[in-house]
Amino acid sequence: MAMRPLYSPQIPLSHPVLGDEEVAAVEQVLRAGQLAAGPEVRSFEAEFAAHCGARFGIAVNNGTTALELALRGLGIGPGDEVIVPSFTFIATANAVCMVGARPVFADIDPVTMCVSAATVAPLLSSATAAIIAVHLYGHPAPVDALAALCSKHGCALVEDSAQALGTRWRGRHVGTTGSAGVFSFYATKAVTTGEGGMLITNDPELSERLRMLRNHGAREVGMHLGVGTNARMSEIAAAIGRVQLRGLEARNEARRVHARAYDQALAGVVEHPRCAPDAVHAQHQYTIQVDDRPRLLAALERASVGYGLYYPRPCHMQPAFARERPSLPHTERAAARVVSLPVRHDLAEAERDTVIAAVRRGARE
Ligand SMILES: Cc1ncc(COP(=O)(O)O)c(C=O)c1O
Repeated sequence: MAMRPLYSPQIPLSHPVLGDEEVAAVEQVLRAGQLAAGPEVRSFEAEFAAHCGARFGIAVNNGTTALELALRGLGIGPGDEVIVPSFTFIATANAVCMVGARPVFADIDPVTMCVSAATVAPLLSSATAAIIAVHLYGHPAPVDALAALCSKHGCALVEDSAQALGTRWRGRHVGTTGSAGVFSFYATKAVTTGEGGMLITNDPELSERLRMLRNHGAREVGMHLGVGTNARMSEIAAAIGRVQLRGLEARNEARRVHARAYDQALAGVVEHPRCAPDAVHAQHQYTIQVDDRPRLLAALERASVGYGLYYPRPCHMQPAFARERPSLPHTERAAARVVSLPVRHDLAEAERDTVIAAVRRGARE
């Protein structure tokens, strides 16, 4: 079978932006010689938590592990159900399975692209131990309504904020309303350490359990109070993360400027994303919807514009979850129609114009 050549467009969808400051921070760690469990991780945790307005930050090796630890820290395991969106990166559902619980897939609200109290409520059962709200593309899920539902039902709310660093709902940073918030520092994220993740919480006891779970159940060297794993972040990663965090808000604002320009230029051309009035959108992705996606993709490729499809096959339609066959009409409609366009902070205006022209051609042709 002929292999399709790798698509490497002139206008990439995203790329990590690393500069002299990150290089200097890494060099400092290397020269100091402490590569693990040191001052960079501790400072990154404190600075990250403060940025989000949370009491505690626990740095880990990636966002998927962070989700697993959040569930374990909340005592969730075999026999439990966890309600998750199907329209998310597979990590959200996998984390539930990895702790031995069962994911129950909820539909999305077509405006926020996230789960809502209305899509989740019919799925609550006596086995529901938690809801994981994913702030998809950087748009917040309505966490206050979800938290109210959880407290009424007696289950936990976990916020998968992997795509939503800087996102706010009604003035609060995402990740601070539920029992725990989870972030990813994967290479495509707004703050990247290559691989990496962070948990935030306001609950001192949960914070302590998460710290122990991350470090083989140990609170101090040689004393293992429980069973855990190695999910620690390295000093090198933390040093990079600290530099990246400092520029976050300015980069997010630049993304929002691009998004507003796209909104104006593409109104009436394609279905462009909507932002709830109570939301500050981190604009991790700018995701339009079209009926004829192959035609649009062909036009983008002819103009050498990068794009992403998040997610053409939702979790409940993955072979891994073949047992689950709920009917999720909004999820399935979005999965067939979404296309994410370049919205990175360093996108040049001329590049943005090229993207707009290509979308117009692809929507019209
Ligand atoms: C919504 C969501 N959850 C979880 C993750 C997992 O994060 P990581 O790749 O750091 O394991 C991602 C990563 O892209 C994500 O987008």
